[in-house]
Amino acid sequence: MSLQERFEELHRLHRRAEVAGGEERIQRQHKAGKKTARERLELLLDKGSFAEVDKFVVHQCRDFGMDTQKILGDGVVTGSGRIHGRPVFVFAQDFTVFGGSLSEAYARKICKIMDLAMKTGVPIIGLNDSGGARIQEGVVSLAGYADIFLRNTLASGVIPQISAILGPCAGGAVYSPAVMDFVVMVKHTAYMFVTGPDVIKAVTHEEVSAEELGGAARHAGTSGVAHFASESEEECLALIRELLTFLPQNNMEEPPIRQTLDPPDRVDEPLQTIVPDQPNKPYDMKEIIRAVLDDRYFFEVHADFAPNIVIGFGRLNGRPVGIVGNQPAHLAGCLDINASVKGARFVRFCDCFNVPLVTFEDVPGFLPGTAQEYGGIIKHGAKLLFAYCEATVPKLTVITRKAYGGAYCVMSSKHIRGDVNFAYPTAEIAVMGPEAAVNILYRREMEGAHEPVKFRDERAREYREKFANPFAAAERGYIDEVIEPRDTRRRLIQALDIVHTKRDSNPPKKHGNIPL
Ligand code: HXC
Repeated sequence: MSLQERFEELHRLHRRAEVAGGEERIQRQHKAGKKTARERLELLLDKGSFAEVDKFVVHQCRDFGMDTQKILGDGVVTGSGRIHGRPVFVFAQDFTVFGGSLSEAYARKICKIMDLAMKTGVPIIGLNDSGGARIQEGVVSLAGYADIFLRNTLASGVIPQISAILGPCAGGAVYSPAVMDFVVMVKHTAYMFVTGPDVIKAVTHEEVSAEELGGAARHAGTSGVAHFASESEEECLALIRELLTFLPQNNMEEPPIRQTLDPPDRVDEPLQTIVPDQPNKPYDMKEIIRAVLDDRYFFEVHADFAPNIVIGFGRLNGRPVGIVGNQPAHLAGCLDINASVKGARFVRFCDCFNVPLVTFEDVPGFLPGTAQEYGGIIKHGAKLLFAYCEATVPKLTVITRKAYGGAYCVMSSKHIRGDVNFAYPTAEIAVMGPEAAVNILYRREMEGAHEPVKFRDERAREYREKFANPFAAAERGYIDEVIEPRDTRRRLIQALDIVHTKRDSNPPKKHGNIPL
């Protein structure tokens, strides 16, 4: 073969790999409202930055006539690229090749780039669109999944791992995204479930569609498996690009600083009256969060799940921070099972990746009820407590109103290594609300009182004056300072400037035993 022929052969192979499953299947993919693996990578990565590996890999299966059906790349496009100039590793499952199903060779390709991502300390992004285990390959396909799961687990807390779900993701295949840090799903074209509608119908006689069972809205709202539900593939991939701007490349680095024109000492007058006079009146904690962050921009995570707690990213004078806020506008901001799990996982993520935590607290306690107790609010609430206790990143807290009972302890209190704890003058830091306290303390007196309602209201007022304020806590140094709401941004930035170099550690151990 001449030199010229060799180059032509190379170009021919490239073209073959790029059409993958063929024009007809690409058309089918487009008709289904989905892009191809390569089109997705174009959107995800900086222009021209993709460097593919293993483009000519094929499977080694000989059964079921597979030896005559070899497609270059074997159903997954892998390699590295850049997002906003920073390196990432990527794999994109190609549904046009055997339905994106996972073979031994395909799993090796993913493992190869995961190993490289770990060695180089670079985030990994997986674009999922697959029929699951390659049925023709049997156990070697299952082995391939297990090889990936192991790598996902070992990479957890070392490099950020992000999954986009852009088509089917079913059976055991769901567990790779589930171990990763963030899952973004596209509405109407993506679904995830362990057992699909047909199996469910056969076993439990329930009838449910794939969308209803495991679509984006379901997982973003009901199960919490997905952190984001996007309207389109474009939106999903743009969201991943943005998410990475808040994160370091790995657990040894700090998150990247982005300069801002928003003055660090910006005063926000409307915050002075945002917490209502009446202690039971709701308000939107997100208004406080936005008012405080650079450019009033809050990148919310898990927005549709457990809205009684708010989590997400923002920046304070350019530095990325993780926000956790109780939301009085939903369930009065009570902590329930879902809110505890949502908050705990986010706190742990931020702690893994050196993202300081800012907690906005207004919580009347844990949600009462048999459903919560039977569901294990004790162990789930303990997750949030455990996560905050264990976290060694800088921790700033602002108590805006209620900090009652166990929830006071849990939400980044001084006692569990909160670094800077502020309270508004409207803060109420107490074992419980005044009415509940009076019902217990004066039960007998109320029974004998001439006017029990008046008696109770008077005692409640006394209790409120004595305990439902921030000053008893400030006297003991549990609160570092009682601040005016309008100064929140300035004071948090000042505090972060001081504590961002904080170093703290936990006792040496294999790992803790978080209550699962
Ligand atoms: C091999 C597969 C495949 C698979 C799909 N295909 N799934 N090939 N192994 N798992 C092929 C089809 O033969 C077809 O090939 C092409 O992909 C597209 O599939 P269609 O069925 O035409 O597409 P669609 O109608 O969109 O349906 C998609 C689907 C369906 C819902 C994913 O294909 C399906 O149910 N597949 C099987 C899913 C499954 O049971 N997988 C195993 C799960 S168990 P042609 O040549 O016609 O284009 C599992 C265990 C993992 O994954 C365990 C890890 C621990």
